[in-house]
Order: sequence, then C-alpha cells, then structure tokens
Amino acid sequence: VTLTIGVDVGGTKVAGGVVDDDGNVLTQVRRDTPAQDPLGTRNTIIGVAAELAAAYPEATAVGIGAAAWIDATRSIVLFAPNLAWRDEPLRRHVSEAVGLPTVVENDANAAAWAEFRYGAARDAEDSMIMITVGTGIGGAIVLNGELVRGTHGIAAELGHMLSVPDGHPCGCGRLGCLEQYASGRALLRFARAGARQEPDRAPILLELAGGDADAVTGLMITTAAQKGDPVSRDAFAQIGYWLGGAMADLVQILDPQVLVIGGGVIDAGELLMGPTERAYREALAVRGTLPVAPLLAAETGSAAGVIGAADLARRI
Ligand code: BGC
Ligand code: NA
Ligand code: ZN
Repeated sequence: VTLTIGVDVGGTKVAGGVVDDDGNVLTQVRRDTPAQDPLGTRNTIIGVAAELAAAYPEATAVGIGAAAWIDATRSIVLFAPNLAWRDEPLRRHVSEAVGLPTVVENDANAAAWAEFRYGAARDAEDSMIMITVGTGIGGAIVLNGELVRGTHGIAAELGHMLSVPDGHPCGCGRLGCLEQYASGRALLRFARAGARQEPDRAPILLELAGGDADAVTGLMITTAAQKGDPVSRDAFAQIGYWLGGAMADLVQILDPQVLVIGGGVIDAGELLMGPTERAYREALAVRGTLPVAPLLAAETGSAAGVIGAADLARRI
C-alpha cells in the first residue's frame, strides 16, 4: 500500500487527507481558507499537509487541488477568480516546508480524476467531462485516459465559457460566464432576487431566512425547495438550465463517454440533477435522438478533491 496526501483548496475551506491506493481516506483535516490573504492561505495548506505527514510518516507525496489556474508545470498558481492569489510558487513552498515531492493541480481536475478513477466515471476508460458546482464552477476534461491540461496548463476552465453575452460580471474579468449563472453563488443570487421580487412564491424560504431575503443561505434554498417552495425550486431549475446547455455544447465539441456533475451543490440531488438533465436533453442537437454521453452525479462526495489530488501525487 502506498499512502499519499491530498489537499483540496477551495474558496472557503482547505481540506486535507491521507489516501490509500484504493481511494480510501484514512484521516481528514479541515481549516477555513483565509481567502483574501495569500500568505495565510499558503501557510494553512502547509499546516494541513505537515500535520498529515507527521501523523503518517510513510506518506510519500503531496497533491494539491486548488481553485485556481495552475501553470503547465503544475507548480505555480497563476490566478484565482475567487481567491486573492497571483503568481504563487506553491509547489516549491509546500515541498520545501513538508519535505515531500508535491504537485499542484486545478481543484476541478483533481475532483474529476477521483471520479474517473473511483467514482461515477470509473467504468469509462477513455473520456469524460466534469463540471463542479460550488462557490465557482470548475471544469475538467479527460481524453485518452488523461487529464487535458492544455498548452499553458489552464485548459478546461469550463466555468468561464460564455453563457450570456454582456451578462453578469465574473471574477475572471469577463461578463456573462457560466459561473455567474450556474454556481452556488448564482443559486443564491437567483433565490434572493426571487424572494425579494415575488415574496408570495417564497413562503418557506423567507420563513427560514427570518423574513430577510439577504439572509438566505444555500442550505435554506435546498431545504425550502425540498418542501416545495416555488422560488427555491426555480433557483435550482435556473442553474440546471445553464448547466445542461453547457453540457450539450461540450458534447458537440468532444463527444465524451460520460458527463459528470459534481461539487457541493449536488448534495441537493434531484433538485439539481432533474432540471440539468432536462435542459441537457432539450439543448442537444436533434433533441438527443443521436447517441450521447449519459449525465451522472459525482459519487466520491466532498472528499473528491482530496482523493483525486492524492492519486495524482502518487503519479508524480
Ligand atoms: C476557477 C477554477 C476552479 C473553479 C472551482 C473557478 O472560478 O476559475 O479554476 O476550478 O472556480 O473552484
Ligand atoms: Na479544470
Ligand atoms: Zn469568468
């Protein structure tokens, strides 16, 4: 058995784990991400990796999945739309501090790798496309059994494809990206706006939020939607609409074996997958009468990034 350490760095949490060859997570650590403080973020990552390395001295390498654009050598964080991170030589800092070989990968790529190896796409040998729905929208493409990283390392930034011309401003500097219409943040925006504009259609949601649309959280939207709150159900239907359409476009480009939707928001289950699947079928050319990839929900859960990053570390 070889053990490796995986660290998943998101906009809100840094999660780390020690993972075996079969993708089992032996132990986990979670800290808050000091998102506006790059040095604090670096030190949090180092702290998590060092703690795990001390607990499991037999661990051989560290893999980091970060919510950021990573360079082609998988060493440097170039840019992060939702974190104050620019040109950070993360690989060097972590490997020097922890004393283990380290690799840095995009968080969605890491999560997709976990799904490809151990999760919803484990039976697909050749290709998959995954979209992660969390604070932001992440993307990953596997072709010929390998993650597609592109010439400069930033391929498969599927969250920054255009959904709405001249639409909502995005953290990447563009207008109208998919991330602004299909992420967890977009879900919040749709639900809050709905509760403000049509309070009669948001009775359960507004009750949960103490009558204040601005106090609505993601969990409240899920709970209210499960109880039939119309505005909350519509908010999921809206993000599903944009996700399904994007997946149909991706099928036209790459025709993969499987499509996977992951990220924290899929905890909402059918509330999200139902509308996404319908929008996907509707948006397909010839209305899906041709053979196309099935759309699956991710299976490795909240540890996906940790498991995938650890497996990538095994392959350094
Ligand atoms: C970033 C991606 C990241 C995704 C999910 C996006 O805003 O551009 O690099 O994978 O968020 O965290
Ligand atoms: Na990616
Ligand atoms: Zn963008």
